[in-house]
Amino acid sequence: MSIHSHRRDIVYARARLKSTMAASFGVCRLFYLGLEPQTQRRLASTISAIKAQTGNKTAKDVTKAKENKTFQAIQEERRERAERSVLISCPPRFSEKKFLDYLSNHGTINKHFFYSSYGACAVVEFSSKESIASMKENTNIPAVEHEAAVPFKSRLLSLKWPGSQSNNQPVPNFQEQSPPSIGDITQLLSEKDSVDEQLQCLTEALQLTEENISLRFLVCSLLGDIAGAYFPECIIRPFGSTVNSFGKLGCDVDMILDLDGIYATSQKKGSGLSLEYQVKRGASERAVTQSILSVIGKCVDQFGPGCVGVQNILQARCPLVRFSHQPSGFQCDLTANNRVAMKSSELLFLYGQLDPRVRHLVFSVRCWARVHNITSSIPGAWITNFTLTVMVVFFLQQRNPPILPTLDQLKDLAGPSDKCVIEGNDCTIVSDLSKITLQKNTDTLEKLLQEFFEFYGNFPFNKASINIRKGKEQTKPETTALYIQNPFETTLNVSKNVNATQLERFVKLCQESAWLLQKREILNRSSSQSVESVLPWGFAALLLPSVTSGTGVKSRRKRKLEPASSRIKNLLDSLKIKGGETVAKKGSTNPSR
Ligand code: GTP
Ligand code: MG
Repeated sequence: MSIHSHRRDIVYARARLKSTMAASFGVCRLFYLGLEPQTQRRLASTISAIKAQTGNKTAKDVTKAKENKTFQAIQEERRERAERSVLISCPPRFSEKKFLDYLSNHGTINKHFFYSSYGACAVVEFSSKESIASMKENTNIPAVEHEAAVPFKSRLLSLKWPGSQSNNQPVPNFQEQSPPSIGDITQLLSEKDSVDEQLQCLTEALQLTEENISLRFLVCSLLGDIAGAYFPECIIRPFGSTVNSFGKLGCDVDMILDLDGIYATSQKKGSGLSLEYQVKRGASERAVTQSILSVIGKCVDQFGPGCVGVQNILQARCPLVRFSHQPSGFQCDLTANNRVAMKSSELLFLYGQLDPRVRHLVFSVRCWARVHNITSSIPGAWITNFTLTVMVVFFLQQRNPPILPTLDQLKDLAGPSDKCVIEGNDCTIVSDLSKITLQKNTDTLEKLLQEFFEFYGNFPFNKASINIRKGKEQTKPETTALYIQNPFETTLNVSKNVNATQLERFVKLCQESAWLLQKREILNRSSSQSVESVLPWGFAALLLPSVTSGTGVKSRRKRKLEPASSRIKNLLDSLKIKGGETVAKKGSTNPSR
């Protein structure tokens, strides 16, 4: 059945309950109730801060990819810069100029920025690695009165500022490292003139900033110094949403302890005599990974400055060490022997660079799913962000003409240097983006968003699986609720964890959102610009609470019994403001349509 014939069948409504909204989504109250003037001012200043920040942000990785840099080259460049950087915790008051003058004694400073995490912190990048050595020579180990210090010289430092010099110093400009609140996002989006603008604005507001990515690479580099005590040639590399171009401010830092450098340098072939290292052998590759992570976890726990809450989660399918890095505020997951995951990150990065609509749609769907508790930060039977991203990619491969190529097509375009086999899995994909020719597809983001919801609201999940390698639905090989073939380990299902209840919630919410967009009432934009009366419309209205996304029996029964007309009435009622006007009545229609 075509997408369009499915469209007629969708009749689902969102019966929004004002009281539920007020309780579970306090920020919505801003749109329903009058605001205290003080709150209005605070909100207005937060919004303008986000606007200023989003205006300044440039997705440098996107620019670099357009300059024809490969994924590996971009990561390597960032890693090398992180190795010449330091992280310094600063006192509440200090002079930025004096601070930079003092550090310049060790060499030229390329870049620096400040942010706030348990106090002021500075990231300083020197132009040469020698500066780090010079700085280390001139840095003291603290004298601790009642406890003993573990004598570890890292690049995580504290600035000591004599008290008399600290008065009346202006506070430096802090770079924001947290995402805007959902309330601020809703308001920001509601001020836009089209759904397409809303989705673009959402990406800008949520995506990782250049500074945040630098900080992530620096944290990996600092961790590398610790792990290097055991494995001097190891590299700790970020993967997942830090590097795949879909990262949102506040997302975790996934790290891989990469020991490939050790293996690579030792594979010297010759026909004559040779020497071999004596090594300790483990029962299996998994057992070796577990024991390596176990000692690194212990080391991070006992000697890692700023690392707290270390948990060794070694029995997981993918063993990991989880900890918080306090000076950056990042939650970190350190894995080892996880090269396929890095390749998956490269694949997603590549898809994200091929067409700007890919990132906008992924950011929107991820945000929508998070707000409605389809995804969660806690592991469980939920759909994950990775799964959602693969679903967006699959949907974009289904467009006519397709917006994204299949994984097999990316493999066919690969050159000899792209060849990559990991544990028997062919993970080859083209690295040079310029070799990829895309077909002309002019779908708007609004259309894509609506049809994404229709597509998955009607997808035959009971019998079909999602396969981005072939770009086609396939017969499900097993009876799990959701089957999405792992792009590289093709016998695995990336969504094996998802149960029927969670899948049903996702499907219902897709149907409901598709229905809301079809109804078009939510696509009418309010003409008012004042802070207290901007109404959520378009994508912002889809972020309002839904009874469908709840799992309660009561809400489900209510929905079934209510006729469609009253569900529609409820929805429109829920969009009423204090003065009793609906979005449709109050505003002019969107001038762009
Ligand atoms: P965030 O939710 O923003 O952290 O997204 P993420 O993409 O970083 O996801 P997550 O931290 O859960 O996982 C990190 C990376 O591990 C993903 O980007 C994938 O490359 C990989 N990954 C996660 N889950 C799976 C899975 O089920 N199968 C496979 N093959 N890889 C996965
Ligand atoms: Mg992650």
